[in-house]
Amino acid sequence: MLRKLNYLNVSWPLDFTSLFPEQGPLLVEIGFGNGDYLVNLARTRREANVIGLEISSQAMDKAERKIDKLGLRNARPIHSTAETALAHLLPPESVSEFHINFPDPWFKKKHSRRRLIKRETVDMLTSRMARGGTLLLATDILAYAELAHEIFSDSPGLSNALGTPWTRDLPGRFRSKYESKAYREGRGAAFFLYKRNTTPVPHPAIIKELDMPHLFLRSPLDAAALVERFETSRRADGDIHIALLRAYADPRRDAAVFEAVVQEPTIDQHTMISLTPRQKPGEYMVKMTSVGHARPTLGMHRAVAAVGDWAAAQHDEARVLERKLRG
Ligand SMILES: C[S@@+](CC[C@H](N)C(=O)[O-])C[C@H]1O[C@@H](n2cnc3c(N)ncnc32)[C@H](O)[C@@H]1O
Repeated sequence: MLRKLNYLNVSWPLDFTSLFPEQGPLLVEIGFGNGDYLVNLARTRREANVIGLEISSQAMDKAERKIDKLGLRNARPIHSTAETALAHLLPPESVSEFHINFPDPWFKKKHSRRRLIKRETVDMLTSRMARGGTLLLATDILAYAELAHEIFSDSPGLSNALGTPWTRDLPGRFRSKYESKAYREGRGAAFFLYKRNTTPVPHPAIIKELDMPHLFLRSPLDAAALVERFETSRRADGDIHIALLRAYADPRRDAAVFEAVVQEPTIDQHTMISLTPRQKPGEYMVKMTSVGHARPTLGMHRAVAAVGDWAAAQHDEARVLERKLRG
């Protein structure tokens, strides 16, 4: 069984030579569901390497099992949102084909941020497409097709490869699970096919990890006394949201850990931030841990600052002595 991949345990950007035995054009399927379309891509396009992106763990398990059973070495599913992969994993001009089959519509206004086909995401898809690369979208929802048409046709880096905004028929196409359902239920589907043209587009750089955030603190309160004072808190720091959920003391070591959820525009992380004693009595180091494979992003730096500042605010004589933090 191949190592299971997620956005936190792969390199940023992806290292294709370590993922695949052979080099080849890269095909990416977003939201692969039961994995049948992904598997078919890998089986019928042996010259290519195929990455699948999914947020559902069940879907990941299914696809991993199918790929493993068939011994396909040119397909790797990654547990990641498409948005995180576009920002952290896939370099500009690296993808020969994007395949997006039946994305969830998220039509309620309060959910519209989760909709895949929106201006920012289509711009990122365009940046990550190789010259001459293609983007295929299928949907069975007319309102989604209309919305996609509006966004694609206003994307200078993309050219429509069809004579019409979309087509109702792509002969010879392998049908995904949702597609078969759409046909069974008489809806059929709309297919979009766009090509990356030669118009230059912005290429947002891959967001890489930063150095490990930490700070030093002096406090007359020991770790157990700090944990006693702890209350769940949530804060928004620009577009970074930090929740400190729980604290646990280890009185024997005069140490503590704080459970943190850090949400940034491109990535969510759930980890622990530790407070450990230094040699000098009354001094502590606050730093991120690798629990949950956490990676040092700007949000993690802010979360370490949040724990340090909170701890310093618990006593008049407590102070943050030194910050090794960004931003
Ligand atoms: C309606 S299903 C379609 C599944 C499959 N493509 C098919 O045609 O049978 C949408 C899939 O997209 C996945 N998904 C939703 N949002 C996603 C995102 N932001 N990034 C990656 N996958 C996502 C869901 O977990 C789900 O499996």
